Amino acid sequence: MVAAATDRRIDKLIHLLVKNATVIVPGPKIASHIGVSNTTVWEYIEKLRSLGVEIKGHHSSGYQLRKLPDILAPSLIRTELGENEIGNKIIHYFRIESTNDVALALAAKGAAHGTGVLAEEQTAGRGRFGRTWHSEKSSGIYVSVVLRPDLSPAAAPALTLMAGVATHRALSGATGLPVDIRWPNDLLVNGKKVCGILTEMSAELGRLHYVVLGIGINVNHRAMPAEIESVATSLRMEGGRVYSRQQILVALFKELEKYYRTLLDRGSDAIARAWAEASSYAEGKKIRVLSKGGDFPAVTAGLASDGSLRIRREDGVEESLVSGEIVEVR
Ligand code: BTN
Repeated sequence: MVAAATDRRIDKLIHLLVKNATVIVPGPKIASHIGVSNTTVWEYIEKLRSLGVEIKGHHSSGYQLRKLPDILAPSLIRTELGENEIGNKIIHYFRIESTNDVALALAAKGAAHGTGVLAEEQTAGRGRFGRTWHSEKSSGIYVSVVLRPDLSPAAAPALTLMAGVATHRALSGATGLPVDIRWPNDLLVNGKKVCGILTEMSAELGRLHYVVLGIGINVNHRAMPAEIESVATSLRMEGGRVYSRQQILVALFKELEKYYRTLLDRGSDAIARAWAEASSYAEGKKIRVLSKGGDFPAVTAGLASDGSLRIRREDGVEESLVSGEIVEVR
């Protein structure tokens, strides 16, 4: 069974507490503001506490936030977004199997362009090549965005690159860390992965119906699970400080809006140029290509505007990679 999205009243409660962060808000005032009983207010407060939100007080005295919560509450995110189409509608879950699954189902039922599906935790987060995506509670950003571009399916690789460029801008802007993009759209800091993007779509010949960009960012994880610690890291582990997930998410929605417009207005060439500027993988990088037919070494030789990566094999023969996986050889 699919979990229910976060009750809009919990969202209202978070908003009320944040807006009145310096005062004690009486329980009955909260109850009447969000339209629930006193008992339900208490249940919601306990739910938030279980997510690490520090709330002082109890029902007889009222409640007060001890510090601003880093919960991705839709009302807190949306007020920062102005006219942005991306993130204009947000559906939030505390716990869900996969935000991509929810976004794909909503898109199939007609969800609007820009709809964002967010989760504090995923129990079956999906990565590329059928892998799982480690989705620890309230440490990362797990978001899926529905796009409805008037483009042909041939533009899908450009959308994938666009998402990588936008996420690169958001992460480097919000953290100041040296973020790199590994083809096609893994985000790395100091050679380890901090973010992955899973692009899924529905299309027919010549027309994209909708695209779901699923973006997973390791933000405040203190450590990564042993199986992936040699290849994955978090922004906190690299930057030595905690980052605001709210700020990063707002930056992400704004950069996605900007680069989506760039793609529509100026085409995939502009996106490929922005990608090549942001990535050390575009040209002259020693890599191994991981392919079903066996791995082989190569050197990168430029990104084409269709999203394919030119590579030169050891025997000097050049070819284009259109999909797959590469890793740096050090
Ligand atoms: C990768 O393998 O690099 C892609 C990882 C994508 C993970 C994100 S988290 C939000 C969205 N929901 C999912 O189930 N997957 C994507």
